[in-house]
Amino acid sequence: MSSDSRPPQSSAVINEAVQTLHHGGLVAFPTETVYGLGADAKNPEAIKKIFTTKGRPSNHPLIVHLAAPDKFDEVKVDWVPILAPWVRDLSEDALSLVNTFWPGPLTLVFKKDKSVLNELTGGQDTVAIRAPAHPLAQELLRKFKGGVVAPSANRFGKVSPTSAADVRHEFEGALDLMILDGGDCEVGIESTILDLSSGDKAILLRPGIITPREIEAKTGIKVFQLGENRDEGNGEKSPRVSGSMRAHYAPTTPLRLYSPGRVLDALSEFPDIKSRVAVGVWDSECSLSSDGHPSVQFDEVELPSDSTTFASRLYRSLRDLDQQGWDLILFPEPPEGEEWDGVRDRLQRACFGSGPSSSNHANS
Ligand code: TXA
Ligand code: MG
Repeated sequence: MSSDSRPPQSSAVINEAVQTLHHGGLVAFPTETVYGLGADAKNPEAIKKIFTTKGRPSNHPLIVHLAAPDKFDEVKVDWVPILAPWVRDLSEDALSLVNTFWPGPLTLVFKKDKSVLNELTGGQDTVAIRAPAHPLAQELLRKFKGGVVAPSANRFGKVSPTSAADVRHEFEGALDLMILDGGDCEVGIESTILDLSSGDKAILLRPGIITPREIEAKTGIKVFQLGENRDEGNGEKSPRVSGSMRAHYAPTTPLRLYSPGRVLDALSEFPDIKSRVAVGVWDSECSLSSDGHPSVQFDEVELPSDSTTFASRLYRSLRDLDQQGWDLILFPEPPEGEEWDGVRDRLQRACFGSGPSSSNHANS
């Protein structure tokens, strides 16, 4: 059932969500990054429902979401008893990362405790964990008193939802889903994922708003890129990160990136398109008009030139533009710089998977 008509913070609604999780149901809930589709991490049948609902292959592992210690705003908090049931080998570095960034948009991959269900790890011997910062997510997790697995609450390969309405739209007609409404997500792109399971190195699996530079500055821990200093991960049977597939986060309308001043080059792939082209333009720059081609009609869409603001609105813009019936969407290539890595990663995958499903490259 849906929570639409009720006040978002009502404890009765949250209690109902907790009961739904206990009974093996799914609950969509807000996090600071994107909305998640949650299920009890100890219930194999509930976990299976997530995969069927999303249309996600069952070897794509899920993130376990945990409640922060009660007094997480105090200086000394103890995450060890919270993590101990889920992970083996909690290193000093892991604790330093947790103490610095949790609750928040950072997911850590550990060697898993043997009690962690294979259904949620895709059969791998590691488990991904995060403590989300959104107060409603924390309240749900605290009251549930257990781990909640939650992928982004979208159909596999599609744009992640950043509002309760997006989740409703995503599963419309297909599912009687309980959705907790916590407003728009602040961060707007999924958490940064760091793999700590090799023991000695922190490896970046998915860029996000928390960058390697910030991690090193705050903890002294150096973050390696995937592939740097190791060659695992290539040729493995189970994908370590489903978002690492080339096509992901994709709108139905074709989406392409253009390099500065090269809008027409981006158009050359679509010779038949003469109108209904939405072109993203940095708010810091003047309009494209002089850049245009007389036979093609552009409509400009202003985009924030600050990376954090851009991230917070990226999926919102893609969803809205997708609804507006454009024939083509062109976005400017994000600038160089680590703070744009998360956005660049999502945009490139969105381009690759975009277009009607018969014409995209998603399954190639
Ligand atoms: O911000 C987020 O992380 C959001 C919110 C809802 O928390 N969740 C999210 O979940 O993005 P999902 O399932 O859409 O993406 C989780 C990513 C997947 O790409 C998955 O492959 C990776 O985490 N992952 C999960 N367990 C893993 C593991 N044991 N080793 C490596 N990667 C893992
Ligand atoms: Mg996802």
